Amino acid sequence: MQKNRVALVTGANKGIGLEIARQLAQVGVHVIIGARDEGRGRAAVDDLASQHMVAQYVRLDLDDLASAETAANTIASEHGKLDILINNAGIFDFADAPPSRASIDAVRRVMEVNFIGALAVTQAMLPLLRQAPAGRIVNLSSSLGSLTLNGDPTSTYYSQRFIGYNASKAALNMLTVQLSEELNGTGIVINSVSPGFVKTDLTGYGTMTTEQGAKLPVKYALGGEESGSFIEPDGKTPW
Ligand SMILES: NC(=O)c1ccc[n+]([C@@H]2O[C@H](COP(=O)([O-])OP(=O)(O)OC[C@H]3O[C@@H](n4cnc5c(N)ncnc54)[C@H](OP(=O)(O)O)[C@@H]3O)[C@@H](O)[C@H]2O)c1
Repeated sequence: MQKNRVALVTGANKGIGLEIARQLAQVGVHVIIGARDEGRGRAAVDDLASQHMVAQYVRLDLDDLASAETAANTIASEHGKLDILINNAGIFDFADAPPSRASIDAVRRVMEVNFIGALAVTQAMLPLLRQAPAGRIVNLSSSLGSLTLNGDPTSTYYSQRFIGYNASKAALNMLTVQLSEELNGTGIVINSVSPGFVKTDLTGYGTMTTEQGAKLPVKYALGGEESGSFIEPDGKTPW
Protein backbone atom coordinates (compact mmCIF):
# COMPACT_ATOMS: atom_id res chain seq x y z
CA MET A 1 0.00 0.00 0.00
CA GLN A 2 1.07 3.57 -0.72
CA LYS A 3 -0.36 5.28 2.36
CA ASN A 4 0.61 8.90 3.05
CA ARG A 5 1.39 9.58 -0.59
CA VAL A 6 -0.46 12.43 -2.28
CA ALA A 7 -1.08 12.59 -6.04
CA LEU A 8 -2.52 15.28 -8.28
CA VAL A 9 -3.98 14.11 -11.60
CA THR A 10 -4.93 16.87 -14.06
CA GLY A 11 -7.97 16.28 -16.26
CA ALA A 12 -9.01 13.49 -13.90
CA ASN A 13 -12.77 13.76 -14.31
CA LYS A 14 -12.91 11.26 -17.18
CA GLY A 15 -10.94 9.10 -19.59
CA ILE A 16 -7.41 7.94 -18.80
CA GLY A 17 -7.04 10.56 -16.04
CA LEU A 18 -10.00 9.23 -14.05
CA GLU A 19 -8.70 5.68 -14.42
CA ILE A 20 -5.20 6.74 -13.30
CA ALA A 21 -6.84 8.35 -10.26
CA ARG A 22 -8.79 5.16 -9.57
CA GLN A 23 -5.73 2.90 -9.83
CA LEU A 24 -3.68 5.18 -7.57
CA ALA A 25 -6.49 5.39 -5.01
CA GLN A 26 -6.81 1.59 -5.13
CA VAL A 27 -3.29 1.22 -3.72
CA GLY A 28 -3.88 3.78 -0.99
CA VAL A 29 -2.60 7.00 -2.55
CA HIS A 30 -4.56 10.11 -1.55
CA VAL A 31 -5.75 11.34 -4.94
CA ILE A 32 -6.55 14.91 -5.86
CA ILE A 33 -8.83 15.16 -8.88
CA GLY A 34 -7.84 18.20 -10.93
CA ALA A 35 -10.72 19.27 -13.17
CA ARG A 36 -11.76 22.54 -14.78
CA ASP A 37 -15.47 22.00 -14.16
CA GLU A 38 -16.50 21.65 -10.52
CA GLY A 39 -19.56 19.51 -11.25
CA ARG A 40 -17.56 17.03 -13.35
CA GLY A 41 -14.71 17.01 -10.82
CA ARG A 42 -16.99 16.35 -7.86
CA ALA A 43 -18.83 13.64 -9.82
CA ALA A 44 -15.46 11.87 -10.25
CA VAL A 45 -14.80 12.14 -6.50
CA ASP A 46 -18.28 10.67 -5.83
CA ASP A 47 -17.62 7.91 -8.37
CA LEU A 48 -14.47 6.87 -6.50
CA ALA A 49 -16.23 7.24 -3.14
CA SER A 50 -18.93 4.82 -4.32
CA GLN A 51 -16.08 2.32 -4.79
CA HIS A 52 -14.79 3.05 -1.27
CA MET A 53 -11.88 5.21 -2.42
CA VAL A 54 -11.03 8.59 -0.95
CA ALA A 55 -10.30 11.49 -3.29
CA GLN A 56 -10.64 15.26 -3.23
CA TYR A 57 -11.42 17.81 -5.90
CA VAL A 58 -9.35 20.83 -6.81
CA ARG A 59 -10.20 23.29 -9.57
CA LEU A 60 -7.57 23.21 -12.27
CA ASP A 61 -8.27 24.86 -15.62
CA LEU A 62 -5.33 24.85 -18.01
CA ASP A 63 -6.87 27.81 -19.83
CA ASP A 64 -6.71 29.77 -16.56
CA LEU A 65 -3.15 29.39 -15.31
CA ALA A 66 -3.87 31.27 -12.07
CA SER A 67 -5.88 28.17 -11.09
CA ALA A 68 -2.61 26.20 -10.90
CA GLU A 69 -1.23 28.59 -8.24
CA THR A 70 -4.50 28.48 -6.30
CA ALA A 71 -4.49 24.67 -6.46
CA ALA A 72 -0.87 24.60 -5.24
CA ASN A 73 -1.80 26.83 -2.28
CA THR A 74 -4.71 24.50 -1.39
CA ILE A 75 -2.48 21.41 -1.56
CA ALA A 76 0.25 23.18 0.46
CA SER A 77 -2.13 24.10 3.26
CA GLU A 78 -3.83 20.69 3.40
CA HIS A 79 -0.91 18.32 2.71
CA GLY A 80 2.33 20.34 2.77
CA LYS A 81 3.76 18.25 -0.09
CA LEU A 82 2.95 16.47 -3.34
CA ASP A 83 4.43 13.03 -4.08
CA ILE A 84 3.03 12.50 -7.58
CA LEU A 85 2.04 14.88 -10.37
CA ILE A 86 0.33 13.41 -13.43
CA ASN A 87 0.14 15.92 -16.27
CA ASN A 88 -2.76 14.20 -18.02
CA ALA A 89 -5.18 16.94 -19.15
CA GLY A 90 -5.05 17.31 -22.89
CA ILE A 91 -7.06 18.10 -25.99
CA PHE A 92 -7.22 17.26 -29.65
CA ASP A 93 -8.76 19.79 -32.03
CA PHE A 94 -10.55 18.76 -35.19
CA ALA A 95 -9.31 21.88 -37.00
CA ASP A 96 -5.78 20.55 -36.48
CA ALA A 97 -4.24 19.18 -39.68
CA PRO A 98 -0.93 18.92 -41.60
CA PRO A 99 1.22 22.06 -41.37
CA SER A 100 0.21 23.41 -44.80
CA ARG A 101 -3.41 23.86 -43.79
CA ALA A 102 -3.93 23.48 -40.02
CA SER A 103 -5.99 26.18 -38.35
CA ILE A 104 -3.57 28.46 -36.51
CA ASP A 105 -6.18 29.03 -33.80
CA ALA A 106 -6.50 25.28 -33.31
CA VAL A 107 -2.73 24.83 -33.11
CA ARG A 108 -2.53 27.63 -30.54
CA ARG A 109 -5.36 26.10 -28.45
CA VAL A 110 -3.71 22.68 -28.41
CA MET A 111 -0.27 24.09 -27.54
CA GLU A 112 -1.78 26.21 -24.75
CA VAL A 113 -3.42 23.27 -23.00
CA ASN A 114 -1.11 20.34 -23.80
CA PHE A 115 2.21 22.16 -23.34
CA ILE A 116 1.90 25.59 -21.70
CA GLY A 117 -0.75 24.29 -19.30
CA ALA A 118 1.37 21.29 -18.27
CA LEU A 119 4.45 23.51 -17.88
CA ALA A 120 2.55 26.00 -15.69
CA VAL A 121 1.09 23.26 -13.47
CA THR A 122 4.55 21.68 -13.13
CA GLN A 123 6.11 25.01 -12.12
CA ALA A 124 3.35 25.63 -9.58
CA MET A 125 3.69 22.14 -8.06
CA LEU A 126 7.50 21.89 -7.99
CA PRO A 127 7.93 23.43 -4.53
CA LEU A 128 5.49 20.82 -3.19
CA LEU A 129 7.21 17.97 -5.06
CA ARG A 130 10.49 19.09 -3.48
CA GLN A 131 8.88 18.55 -0.05
CA ALA A 132 8.14 14.88 -0.87
CA PRO A 133 10.78 12.20 -0.22
CA ALA A 134 10.72 10.87 -3.82
CA GLY A 135 8.66 13.07 -6.13
CA ARG A 136 7.35 11.64 -9.38
CA ILE A 137 6.12 13.52 -12.47
CA VAL A 138 4.45 11.67 -15.33
CA ASN A 139 3.74 13.56 -18.54
CA LEU A 140 1.03 11.92 -20.66
CA SER A 141 2.71 12.05 -24.03
CA SER A 142 2.02 10.24 -27.30
CA SER A 143 4.09 8.43 -29.87
CA LEU A 144 2.66 11.09 -32.22
CA GLY A 145 5.09 13.44 -30.43
CA SER A 146 8.11 11.43 -31.56
CA LEU A 147 10.15 13.46 -34.10
CA THR A 148 11.81 10.23 -35.22
CA LEU A 149 8.54 8.35 -35.90
CA ASN A 150 6.98 11.40 -37.63
CA GLY A 151 9.84 11.22 -40.13
CA ASP A 152 9.89 7.42 -40.55
CA PRO A 153 7.81 6.21 -43.54
CA THR A 154 7.72 2.69 -42.02
CA SER A 155 6.09 3.94 -38.83
CA THR A 156 2.33 3.65 -38.28
CA TYR A 157 2.48 7.24 -36.95
CA TYR A 158 4.01 8.61 -40.18
CA SER A 159 0.65 9.43 -41.79
CA GLN A 160 -0.85 10.99 -38.64
CA ARG A 161 0.09 14.60 -39.39
CA PHE A 162 -1.49 16.92 -36.84
CA ILE A 163 0.99 19.76 -36.48
CA GLY A 164 -0.66 21.15 -33.34
CA TYR A 165 -1.20 17.93 -31.38
CA ASN A 166 2.06 16.24 -32.44
CA ALA A 167 4.12 19.40 -31.75
CA SER A 168 2.43 19.84 -28.36
CA LYS A 169 3.54 16.35 -27.33
CA ALA A 170 7.05 16.91 -28.75
CA ALA A 171 7.21 20.10 -26.65
CA LEU A 172 5.97 18.18 -23.60
CA ASN A 173 8.78 15.69 -24.22
CA MET A 174 11.25 18.59 -24.20
CA LEU A 175 9.90 19.52 -20.78
CA THR A 176 10.61 15.95 -19.65
CA VAL A 177 14.21 16.01 -20.93
CA GLN A 178 15.10 19.48 -19.69
CA LEU A 179 13.43 19.21 -16.28
CA SER A 180 14.91 15.76 -15.71
CA GLU A 181 18.37 17.28 -16.17
CA GLU A 182 17.50 20.28 -14.00
CA LEU A 183 16.22 18.02 -11.19
CA ASN A 184 19.16 15.63 -11.33
CA GLY A 185 20.18 14.77 -7.74
CA THR A 186 16.94 16.01 -6.14
CA GLY A 187 15.26 12.58 -6.06
CA ILE A 188 12.44 13.89 -8.26
CA VAL A 189 11.93 11.71 -11.31
CA ILE A 190 10.11 12.79 -14.49
CA ASN A 191 9.15 10.73 -17.54
CA SER A 192 7.03 10.97 -20.68
CA VAL A 193 4.63 8.05 -20.88
CA SER A 194 2.43 7.19 -23.84
CA PRO A 195 -0.61 5.22 -22.66
CA GLY A 196 -1.13 3.40 -25.98
CA PHE A 197 -4.13 3.82 -28.27
CA VAL A 198 -7.01 4.15 -25.83
CA LYS A 199 -10.73 4.54 -26.56
CA THR A 200 -11.78 7.82 -24.91
CA ASP A 201 -13.72 10.96 -25.84
CA LEU A 202 -10.44 12.37 -27.22
CA THR A 203 -9.89 9.58 -29.74
CA GLY A 204 -13.43 8.29 -30.27
CA TYR A 205 -11.92 4.87 -30.84
CA GLY A 206 -8.88 2.85 -29.84
CA THR A 207 -7.55 -0.63 -29.25
CA MET A 208 -7.20 -0.32 -25.46
CA THR A 209 -9.53 0.33 -22.54
CA THR A 210 -8.82 3.17 -20.09
CA GLU A 211 -7.97 0.48 -17.53
CA GLN A 212 -5.21 -0.79 -19.81
CA GLY A 213 -4.10 2.73 -20.79
CA ALA A 214 -3.69 3.86 -17.19
CA LYS A 215 -1.36 1.00 -16.26
CA LEU A 216 1.94 2.43 -17.58
CA PRO A 217 1.43 5.99 -16.24
CA VAL A 218 0.55 4.48 -12.83
CA LYS A 219 3.62 2.24 -12.91
CA TYR A 220 5.89 5.25 -13.47
CA ALA A 221 4.00 7.28 -10.86
CA LEU A 222 4.59 4.68 -8.18
CA GLY A 223 8.12 3.48 -8.69
CA GLY A 224 11.46 3.39 -10.40
CA GLU A 225 14.46 5.68 -10.37
CA GLU A 226 14.63 6.03 -14.16
CA SER A 227 14.19 9.65 -15.28
CA GLY A 228 14.09 11.51 -18.59
CA SER A 229 12.67 8.63 -20.63
CA PHE A 230 9.93 8.31 -23.24
CA ILE A 231 8.03 5.06 -22.80
CA GLU A 232 5.03 3.42 -24.47
CA PRO A 233 3.44 0.03 -23.72
CA ASP A 234 5.79 -1.71 -26.21
CA GLY A 235 8.90 -0.23 -24.56
CA LYS A 236 11.08 2.83 -25.12
CA THR A 237 9.97 5.25 -27.83
CA PRO A 238 12.49 7.29 -29.86
CA TRP A 239 12.33 11.02 -29.16
N1 LIG B 1 -6.55 8.24 -25.75
C1 LIG B 1 -5.38 7.97 -26.30
O1 LIG B 1 -5.25 7.01 -27.11
C2 LIG B 1 -4.17 8.78 -25.97
C3 LIG B 1 -2.95 8.42 -26.58
C4 LIG B 1 -1.81 9.14 -26.27
C5 LIG B 1 -1.88 10.19 -25.35
N2 LIG B 1 -3.08 10.52 -24.79
C6 LIG B 1 -3.09 11.63 -23.83
O2 LIG B 1 -3.70 11.21 -22.62
C7 LIG B 1 -4.29 12.33 -21.96
C8 LIG B 1 -5.73 11.99 -21.57
O3 LIG B 1 -6.46 11.81 -22.77
P1 LIG B 1 -7.86 11.02 -22.85
O4 LIG B 1 -7.77 10.19 -24.06
O5 LIG B 1 -8.20 10.41 -21.55
O6 LIG B 1 -8.84 12.25 -23.18
P2 LIG B 1 -10.27 12.69 -22.61
O7 LIG B 1 -11.09 11.51 -22.21
O8 LIG B 1 -10.79 13.63 -23.62
O9 LIG B 1 -9.88 13.47 -21.25
C9 LIG B 1 -9.19 14.67 -21.31
C10 LIG B 1 -9.22 15.33 -19.94
O10 LIG B 1 -8.51 16.58 -20.04
C11 LIG B 1 -9.36 17.59 -19.51
N3 LIG B 1 -9.09 18.90 -20.09
C12 LIG B 1 -9.17 19.29 -21.37
N4 LIG B 1 -8.91 20.60 -21.50
C13 LIG B 1 -8.65 21.06 -20.24
C14 LIG B 1 -8.31 22.32 -19.70
N5 LIG B 1 -8.23 23.43 -20.46
N6 LIG B 1 -8.11 22.42 -18.37
C15 LIG B 1 -8.22 21.32 -17.57
N7 LIG B 1 -8.55 20.11 -18.02
C16 LIG B 1 -8.77 19.97 -19.35
C17 LIG B 1 -10.77 17.13 -19.82
O11 LIG B 1 -11.71 17.83 -19.02
P3 LIG B 1 -13.21 18.17 -19.55
O12 LIG B 1 -14.03 16.94 -19.28
O13 LIG B 1 -13.60 19.33 -18.70
O14 LIG B 1 -13.10 18.49 -21.00
C18 LIG B 1 -10.64 15.66 -19.46
O15 LIG B 1 -10.72 15.49 -18.07
C19 LIG B 1 -4.17 13.51 -22.93
O16 LIG B 1 -3.04 14.30 -22.58
C20 LIG B 1 -3.92 12.82 -24.27
O17 LIG B 1 -3.22 13.65 -25.18
C21 LIG B 1 -4.22 9.84 -25.07
